[in-house]
This record gives sequence, structure tokens and C-alpha cells, in this order.
Amino acid sequence: LQTLDSLSLLSLHFFLSLCLVCPGTENKLSTLSDLDQQYRTLKKLYENCEVVMGNLEITSIDRNRNLSFLKSIREVTGYVLVALNQFDHLPLENLRIIRGTKLYEGRYALAIFLNYRRDGYYGLRQLGLRSLTVKMFILRGRIYLCLTAGSPLPVRLTLLKSPV
Ligand SMILES: *[C@@H]1O[C@H](CO)[C@@H](O)[C@H](O)[C@H]1NC(C)=O
Repeated sequence: LQTLDSLSLLSLHFFLSLCLVCPGTENKLSTLSDLDQQYRTLKKLYENCEVVMGNLEITSIDRNRNLSFLKSIREVTGYVLVALNQFDHLPLENLRIIRGTKLYEGRYALAIFLNYRRDGYYGLRQLGLRSLTVKMFILRGRIYLCLTAGSPLPVRLTLLKSPV
């Protein structure tokens, strides 16, 4: 037992020292009134972040924002919520694991909805969840995907339920 303890302690230390960990949020759909502030907050939270300890919530981000900093994210321990945005590409291409230790609305590990542009044009066209097509583990919870009608569907979800 003692060996086991020190082993898990070691792996925890390893995990912490190797990964850039950041806290998530639990704001759901409530947003700051200022769109600039909303974007700056998102960037500040997740720039250089690899593991989100909590929920990754991307809401009320307008068009033409540079979201490339989201590429660093590899894992989210809670849920992922993408809603009320107007950008057309979401570069979460390195996200591999959503643990779902917390679920959106008590049910969803991944919830993507109402990403329209104000001019009625397509909203989110490209999810950029490249890892989703390769190997994506959602360890708990369901998925709610609601993309804009008429949008060429770039998303092919290959989901593997893993008991890990
Ligand atoms: C977005 O930001 C990254 C660095 O954060 C930069 O390398 C890239 O050129 C930017 N892209 C655009 C379109 O501005």
C-alpha cells in the first residue's frame, strides 16, 4: 500500500510539473456585457493552458477574434460549452479528453449550440476539433451538438467511450 501511495504521489507530481494547468469557469451562459472584455478574459484564462481543471466555457465571442491560443488545450476535466458565439472556426484541435467530472445541465460533457452570426449567416462552420476525428475520449456524460443548418458539416465525431 505504501508503495502504491508514493507511486500515485509521484505520478501526481509528474502530472503537475509537466502540464500547464489552469482553472476553468462555471458561468454557463451568463456573460460580461463587454465583448472585448469577454475575449480578453478567455485569452487570459487559457493562453498556454494544457489542462483545464474545471469547465471550458467559450461563450459570447464575436467574429474575427484570434482564438489560436485554444490550441494548447489538451484536456478538460469538467465539461466543454461552446454557445452564443459568432466566430466560424474553433481551433480546439488538440483537445483529446473531456472527463466530464462536471456536466453542463447535469447531462452534457460537450455542448455546442446557438453559434450564429447576427447577419443570419452561418455561424460556427468549422469545429476544428481535429482530435475528435482521431481519438477523443469523453469519459462521462452526453453530447449536445447543434450546428447551423446549411453549414457544410466538417465534423465527424468518432467517439470512444473509455473506461479509463
Ligand atoms: C493569432 O495569434 C497567434 C499568436 O497568438 C499568431 O501566431 C497568429 O498569427 C495570429 N493569427 C492571426 C490571423 O492574426
